[in-house]
Amino acid sequence: MESTMKEPPNKKIKIVNSDEVLVDRFCDPKKPQIVTFQDVSAAAYKIKGGIQKTPCLKSQMSSMFDMKIYFKKEFLQFTGSFKERGARYTLLMLTEEQKKAGVIAASAGNHALALSYHGQDLGVPVTVIMPVIAPLMKIQNCRKFGANVHVTGANLSESREQAMKMGQELGLLYINGYDHPHILAGQGTMGLEIVEQVPDLDACIIPVGGGGLIAGTALAIKNLRPHVTIIGVESEKCPSFSQAMKAGKPVFTATHSTLADGLAVPTVGVNAFATAKGLIDKMLIVQEENIALSILRLLELEKAVVEGAGATGLAAVVEGLVPELQGKKVVIAACGGNIDTTALGRVIERGLAVDGRLVRFVVTVSDRPGGIADLTKLMAGLGVSIKDIFHERAWIKSDIFSVQVKVVCETRDAEHSDELHQAIKAKYTHYTWGPGY
Ligand SMILES: Cc1ncc(COP(=O)(O)O)c(C=O)c1O
Repeated sequence: MESTMKEPPNKKIKIVNSDEVLVDRFCDPKKPQIVTFQDVSAAAYKIKGGIQKTPCLKSQMSSMFDMKIYFKKEFLQFTGSFKERGARYTLLMLTEEQKKAGVIAASAGNHALALSYHGQDLGVPVTVIMPVIAPLMKIQNCRKFGANVHVTGANLSESREQAMKMGQELGLLYINGYDHPHILAGQGTMGLEIVEQVPDLDACIIPVGGGGLIAGTALAIKNLRPHVTIIGVESEKCPSFSQAMKAGKPVFTATHSTLADGLAVPTVGVNAFATAKGLIDKMLIVQEENIALSILRLLELEKAVVEGAGATGLAAVVEGLVPELQGKKVVIAACGGNIDTTALGRVIERGLAVDGRLVRFVVTVSDRPGGIADLTKLMAGLGVSIKDIFHERAWIKSDIFSVQVKVVCETRDAEHSDELHQAIKAKYTHYTWGPGY
């Protein structure tokens, strides 16, 4: 099947400072391209064989949230994310000349990995510009997949500028990872698979960064199942698609450091927005702590390593933002699994704290022999495990025969933590419970 998308002519614009700023000719704000269902079908046909058809299975979490929850496990793609779908399709659609010359992209992670891997597989030279904040593991893996990697730019915008310039100098085609029309069509193939795997779904929850994934997926699902509710989710630290929906067009939205780094796109894609805006039923914004808790839930209950961006869909359920979906069949895109091991360790701790299973408190106990032992005995009696304990005398304001003890401990659950809280309250006069000391 042939693609219905047109290739726009090359274009450059001038702005102040006489710096030449290049405009990506495939993503022109003045002429957004709306991708069609035919484009998604063409992509599905073309990429078949080069991409995993990932499982979409019912989750144990269904009973926890009174919903029939299915996870579309895109973190099982070879490079750990759905980005491979769009990357492979875009590479396959290049002209022979473009294939020979190669492509260039700016990305801190998943798009770079996907393009590097499929570029190597299809014999297309790939150059990626990664910002200095890109995780080392992702930089190394792009090199491992044979890409020409340049680490430059304080953030993605700076890397992107570099990539556009270098692309123009070296004759490499620039590929926007969330807005090139072929990227959108490729990502849409996830939607086709979802409908095939869960034909009677009621809703689909999709994390949103630049908007490529939701645009393609919503297009596929709404065409085949118009009644299905499409819900987009962003982190509170980068709600750029929600802002675009309010403004009626992509607008710059400041982004802040987030666990969902893959979603931190300040201005969403023009084609993605034009394609998706009429297909999205609801956009939601979740708190960072619920993203951490969702990563933990996916690890413990789904045995799945999912990165922050990929866990954002579940976070909307965890946060209680979709009560209307109770009893419904809901597919959640678990769309990426590339999280650094060190970050994962920190996220687990944060998730345990949010879940009330990692607790800290400070309590004043007697400094006489046995004072601290009494405290630890009380905790041991309740089956609470101490992670850290620290005591100090010098700054304490009560009598000099007292000592202040700071404790971090692990409990079974929030109820168990409350049991400990009540026992401390009953035994000691001076104590502060929780994170606020
Ligand atoms: C794991 C993951 N999920 C979701 C997204 C969002 O995709 P899009 O930018 O197409 O909205 C990204 C983007 O990089 C991602 O890496």
